[in-house]
Amino acid sequence: MEKFVINGGAKLSGSLRVESAKNAVLPMLAGAILTDEKVIIKNCPKIEDVLTMIKILARLGVKTQFLGEDLMVDASNINGYEIPDELGKELRSSVFMMGALISRFKKAKVSYPGGCKIGARPINLHLDGLKQMGVNVIENEEYIECFASDLKGCKIKLSYPSVGATENLMLSAVLAQGKTELHGVAKEPEIVDLMQFLNKMGAKVYGAGTSTILIEGVKKLHAVEYKPIADRIEAGTYLLSAVITGGEIEVNGCDAKNIYPLIHKLCDNTCKISIKNDIIYVKSGRVPKSFDFSTGPYPFFPTDLQAQTMVLSTISQGVSTIIENVFENRFCHVSELKKMGADISVKGRRATVNGVNRLHGAKVFANDLRGGSALVLAGLNAEGVSEIYGVNHIKRGYLNIDEKLRTLGANVKLQKE
Ligand code: UD1
Repeated sequence: MEKFVINGGAKLSGSLRVESAKNAVLPMLAGAILTDEKVIIKNCPKIEDVLTMIKILARLGVKTQFLGEDLMVDASNINGYEIPDELGKELRSSVFMMGALISRFKKAKVSYPGGCKIGARPINLHLDGLKQMGVNVIENEEYIECFASDLKGCKIKLSYPSVGATENLMLSAVLAQGKTELHGVAKEPEIVDLMQFLNKMGAKVYGAGTSTILIEGVKKLHAVEYKPIADRIEAGTYLLSAVITGGEIEVNGCDAKNIYPLIHKLCDNTCKISIKNDIIYVKSGRVPKSFDFSTGPYPFFPTDLQAQTMVLSTISQGVSTIIENVFENRFCHVSELKKMGADISVKGRRATVNGVNRLHGAKVFANDLRGGSALVLAGLNAEGVSEIYGVNHIKRGYLNIDEKLRTLGANVKLQKE
């Protein structure tokens, strides 16, 4: 078992570059099976979720190869349409394969997707949309089977702007017959990036980033070389690591407008922020003040930064209120932060945080990816030594987080037990 051992208290300083966005790369890896030609994903991070997706592709007969930092995907010999249960359950994004496999084979068999245990995470919106495109869906307790004689463009209205459902339906519609209109879709930057990736492959997708996406089906997609956008959640996590330790850092590679809600909160909270091109500089101010925020679909505060931002509230003067509107069970990190001296109470989707001067070291367990990174941030602030277990969750989305933090001056080690 691996754990991070952190001796807290070092003020972080320096600069680092963030990776390509996990949530942009994963649907692109599914999209890569829509052509027989080679797809190159530039600067593809070797995080665990990407490696699991590569394993899924390998099981389907898809060849992948890292060429330095870039990943080549060659689906010319793809020969399967079933996602093996043990891999599907490891990764939420295996659900994207459903849309892509139906596009390619007119059939798919997938188990219910896994991923972070942060809520029930149903996939009704994905399935309803597919049904409207002419897909027959048979659900049983263990897996979902889909088949269609033809995929037909149509009008689909999502009752909630689900990121995954939007992406899955985009992947299904690009090779469908005729036009598809997707209304009420998610507007996340990763969806805009998926549109650009697909269009570079020859697809005709318009409107991503707004609440309506129009797709004109084409007969064939072709080879592409594409550099995904930077990981705004990774960028936000490191900006917070500096603020939480009273330090100052420069994060390179990320478009600040993609994490504007966090930047806005930090500016309000005695931090100095300056932005030049894709460089975000943050310097922590005096003692942080309490603040309130509510998560929501883009452009609102990202749920994927809720846990890390909560750590800042635990050491801010006064009472902060955090409302989690996206996932119903995304406060798993609270019990662990309390072991480190945080004063937090949770009622339903609302957390009330009474700021303390400083956290203290403790042995804690990460239960999910972002909650896990929040515990790392807490450890950087804490007095004494923290041991953070559940490193596997954190590695799903952060490449070499310990190494990167060490370059900023943190005292953090990855240890095996
Ligand atoms: C994606 C991101 C995840 C992020 C989330 C919200 C990826 C790989 N993951 O997850 O990091 O936290 O967006 O920004 O991109 N819902 C339904 N029915 C559905 C689909 C979703 O009720 O068919 C609900 C979910 O239970 C949840 C909410 O909608 O409460 C948001 O989910 P969704 O936007 O679909 O998130 P994911 O695509 O799973």
